[in-house]
Amino acid sequence: MAPHSSMPASAPGSADLGIDVAAISDGLSHSIGFPVRHYHDPGIYALELARIFEGRWQYFCPVAMVAKPGDVMTGMIGNTPVVVTRDKDGQVHGLVNVCRHRGFRVVGDAERNCTRLYCRYHAWTYRLDGSLARAPDLESDTEFDKSEHGLRRIAVGIWGPAVFVNSDDSAEPLHTAMPELQEFSDRLGVDEDPENYILHDTHISEQKANWKLWTDNSVECYHCGSIHGESFNQAFVVETEGGVQSPVLHKGAIMSSVFEPQKPKGDGLRTSFYRSLHLFPGAHIVQHDDIMLMGRMVPTGPESCTYTGHYMRHKDTPEDRASEWVELYNKTFAEDAEVVELQQINLRSPNAMPFRYNPGREETSILTNKLIVQALAD
Ligand code: FES
Ligand SMILES: [Fe+2]
Repeated sequence: MAPHSSMPASAPGSADLGIDVAAISDGLSHSIGFPVRHYHDPGIYALELARIFEGRWQYFCPVAMVAKPGDVMTGMIGNTPVVVTRDKDGQVHGLVNVCRHRGFRVVGDAERNCTRLYCRYHAWTYRLDGSLARAPDLESDTEFDKSEHGLRRIAVGIWGPAVFVNSDDSAEPLHTAMPELQEFSDRLGVDEDPENYILHDTHISEQKANWKLWTDNSVECYHCGSIHGESFNQAFVVETEGGVQSPVLHKGAIMSSVFEPQKPKGDGLRTSFYRSLHLFPGAHIVQHDDIMLMGRMVPTGPESCTYTGHYMRHKDTPEDRASEWVELYNKTFAEDAEVVELQQINLRSPNAMPFRYNPGREETSILTNKLIVQALAD
């Protein structure tokens, strides 16, 4: 999966921003984290968006959200507003959600289904495949060619229950660019059949924390015993006697983890298995009896990000039971959000120091940070 940079040629690179990639890589090999300014510097944030979030395959939304003709789903990929649509022939399209007239956002975030994509600024109207259908008062202009003013396209790929997008329309197709996705899914035995799951609930959490803090937190469960004692830890064994957690596998941009369920106790929520995939840079797919959770984090500024989790209920699971899982996970996520927001505040102090990770227990955080620094190399 070769990310491309969509930054203009004159945009500052790592060296211009004073980023010493070799020193950071060396630090990470000794479990030392990024220099503190990487958690709030606007220039570094812009570089990360361009190098990490643009031009890279990323999970976008459940297929269930664009299942019917006319369904639309909006979101950001790095600096690019995108919309995924399903046309009346059942074809899925990835489009840049920016009007070709004067750059207004075409499809609003609240829109879920429409027959045409309508820009409300001056009423240019596009078909669901992005082609321009109508440009009021311009159609008699002999210099204007409607066929050249459709919405720009991005790459879109479907894997099982999930839609993936890549802001680079010429990107290698998802399945060949990320073969490890299928490999890991097969190895974990993920149920990929979208027909088995129903969209049950959506959780949105806006967090005042740099996206790397969210990522660090989401890929390790070193903190689960202490932070999630009343939530995740109630249902899953996060500590074993030897201090060894779930085995973690990783390859390319994918990591996986597996947890043992807690033993049955009273009417506590229980499942028979837990498997999850972490998809760098900001997504995860969790599956166990009753629930599949597909979540995506989007950076929204140097010191903020938004996590959106889509809870899919297994078709045989009662709604009440699915809602109990949602409650457990939402509590877990709220605890995580509190942690990363406090870290962010502390990182603004002139006394803030780079992190010193635990290489045994935070191997995945270190791995993720290595992927980040690789992407920043000029
Ligand atoms: S910006 Fe879309 S119609 Fe003018
Ligand atoms: Fe957590």
